[in-house]
This record gives sequence, structure tokens and C-alpha cells, in this order.
Amino acid sequence: MAAIEHDQLQRLAHVLPLGSRVNAHGHLELGGCDAVELAREFGTPAYVYAEDDLRTRARAYVEAMRARHDAFDVLFASKAFPCTAAYRLFAAEGIACDVASGGELALALRGGFDPARIYLHGNAKSLAELEEALDAGVGHVVLDSFDDIERLERVAGARGARQAVLIRVTPGVAGRTHASISTGQADSKFGFGIDDARIAIERTRACEHLDLQGLHMHIGSQLLSLDAYRPAVEAIATLGDFPVYNLGGGLGVAYTAEQRPPSIEEYVTVQVDAANELLGRGRKLLIEPGRSLVANACVTLYTVQTVKRNVSTWVGVDGGMSDNLRPMLYGSHYEAFFADRPNAAGSSERCHVAGKHCESGDVIVRDVPLADPRPGDVLVTPATGAYGHAMANNYNGIPRPPVIFCKDGDARVVVRRETYDDLAARDLT
Ligand code: LLP
Repeated sequence: MAAIEHDQLQRLAHVLPLGSRVNAHGHLELGGCDAVELAREFGTPAYVYAEDDLRTRARAYVEAMRARHDAFDVLFASKAFPCTAAYRLFAAEGIACDVASGGELALALRGGFDPARIYLHGNAKSLAELEEALDAGVGHVVLDSFDDIERLERVAGARGARQAVLIRVTPGVAGRTHASISTGQADSKFGFGIDDARIAIERTRACEHLDLQGLHMHIGSQLLSLDAYRPAVEAIATLGDFPVYNLGGGLGVAYTAEQRPPSIEEYVTVQVDAANELLGRGRKLLIEPGRSLVANACVTLYTVQTVKRNVSTWVGVDGGMSDNLRPMLYGSHYEAFFADRPNAAGSSERCHVAGKHCESGDVIVRDVPLADPRPGDVLVTPATGAYGHAMANNYNGIPRPPVIFCKDGDARVVVRRETYDDLAARDLT
């Protein structure tokens, strides 16, 4: 990140896409593209990704695993950023993929993933989704309930197939994170608790058309401490010996300058060491990162529409909870600054960045210093690459933003902006 010259951007170097810098015009540059120019060319709001950042992080995961373990796979947890271009990019990087629904499966196949490298998840999979998965030839289905076992046995039996499966276990260890994205605790809608897991293992082994290869766990998301992984592995180690273990995702990312998540290498080291020690050597280990592959590769660009000063200063932008639900759902904090003066924090006033939606909770960033905000300014919020596009919606009839990939100074639209016609596309009258 030596390319970043200014203080403010230095402070945010670990939050912004790799290779971001201030260019000769004093503007933020991502993937070699001027953010002000991008806003002009593609409009706002827009999700802008530095393509190299996505690739670098995928390679970092693969290299970190390769350096520490022989048999492994890194899975792109595609719920974090499900669009054809992302699937295509990660498929080309040679990593595998997890999908959480028939829709994500369809996109993954469209993006070129080898079905054998796809893992189907879901706590409430429908019969149709199981049939779609088997028709596509997905490599593994992750069983999440007794109903799942029974239903998949029937679906596989009807095809005369034998389907490879993993059993999802909730190890009774909760990672420290927001309650809505903690998944390892015993009282969870996901997976089997330790006692039920024993029964599920027996039942699955008795199924003629299911080939039980191992166990899966995912203890939570946006974990900024790695403490919970080892106890979780310890808990699943009591369930027997399996050739395959999927240890889930969950590595947190920096949304704000103060957040210092563990590195990919640290995360992988903790997982692999715990697995080798507690599960036995020579097992095939899977990890399935989502957020930490894609979050920091992206910024959202908005245009300021209005600045209102009452008790606070409200900087109103042209997006909001339709393109970033995370502040509203999890109280997440973001950074914000202007694309044409990223380092102008010196002359700044504390502001709230407000979305354009019809509710008071639609505030994207609270209490952030912004330098002389004016209508027309291009505002940048970093680290929006995970669960932003994925959870975007049309509240208040706002068309969803485009996704732009930037690389070596070239920008291409990989998801176009929605139109008003799109908003009515499903209406039958
Ligand atoms: N594997 C499974 C089974 C998962 O449920 C998830 C995320 C992952 C892997 C990837 O976890 P990650 O590496 O991204 O932490 N919408 C929320 C996040 C929900 C996470 C759901 N599961 C957010 O915006 O924070």
C-alpha cells in the first residue's frame, strides 16, 4: 500500500481495496480508475470493485492452506457476493463454491463452476432445491436437519444415485459477533447440536443413497477474534473420525480504521492447527470464506443530494438501505470521505450520512467527519463488497446499483443498474 500518499487514506489502507491510492488529480483511484470519473461515467450509487483485490485474497487463502496442509479446498461462500462475474472470477481462480439456495446454485452454474466443486447448504432446503442440486450433479449436499436426511435419501434414491454429503454441526460454541450472524450456539436454526449430530450420523450412514464423508461447522460471521475456533473443533472431534471436515468461514474484516482483524494466514493457521491436532492428520480440510474474500475489494460511490444542518449535519445521498442494509440490521459502522478530496479531513465537520429512504433509521454512517459537504460531491463508503449487492432491495422504488469491476485503469459493468422497467418486470397488470 506504499502507493497511498495521504494521511487519511493511509489510515484507511487496510479498509480500502488493495492498490488504492490518491492520483495526480488528488482523487481516489481504485483498480487504476479515478473514482470521480467512475461516478461520472456510470452514475451513482455504484458498487466499484478492484478486481485484483478479489484475486489476491483468493490466492492468499489458497497459498495459506497449501503452505500448511496437503488435502484442502477453499470454498467461495457465494452468499457474500452472488453475481455471475464473481462466480466466474473465483471459478477461474480454481477455488470451489458454496451455495445456500437453488438461486445461488443457478448463478454458480451460470458463472462456470464445475458442479462437482459446489456444496449446497441451507437450513430449509426445498424438495425442488434438492432435485435441482442432484440434477446439476453438485459434489456435496450439507445436511442440516433430520427432514433433510430423509428427503435427500428419497431424491437420490429416485435417481438411483449415491450423493456425497456432509452433516452440519452446531458445536455449542458461539463466536463473538452480532447475534444475527452468530451460528455456532446450541440453540440455533442451523445444523445439529452435538447430541442430535450423533443420531444424524447414524441415520445418514444407514441411508443407501447417501455417502457421508464428513462434518461441517460454521460458528459465525465477522469474527474479529479467532478464540472460538479451537473449542468448536474440539467439540466436533467428539463425533468420530471422518475423512472430510468443513470448518466454515467467518473471518472478520475491517469496516473502520480501528478494526484490525486477524490476517488470512492467522485464521488459516488456527483452523489447520486445531484440525490437525484434534481431528487427526491427513483429513481433507475445507474452509468457506465469504466476507473476507470480497468485502474490502469494493467501495460504494454515492452523490450528495442535500446537506441539512439542524441539531446535526445530515448529508443526504442518492442511495441508502436499498444498497446497504448492514447498518440497519447489525448496527455496522462504515467510514466515509469524498472521492475528490480523500485527505481533506482537516477542515471537517461531524456529519451523518443519510440515505434517501422514507424512514429515520436509514442512516448509512453516523458521526463521521466530512470536509465541507456540498450537493454534487461524490461520497465513498469503503468495505461494501460483502452482503451489499447480495442484500440490495428496491425499497421506495429505488433501482439497484450496478456492479463495476476495475482493473489496470479499465472499468467494466458486470451488473447493470436496474431500470424503472425492471421494477415493473414481474407485474402482470
Ligand atoms: N458458510 C456458511 C454456512 C455460512 O452461513 C456463511 C455465512 C459463510 C460460510 C460465510 O461466512 P463469512 O466468511 O462471510 O463470514 N448478512 C450478514 C452475514 C451473514 C452471514 C451468513 N453466513 C452480514 O452482512 O454481516
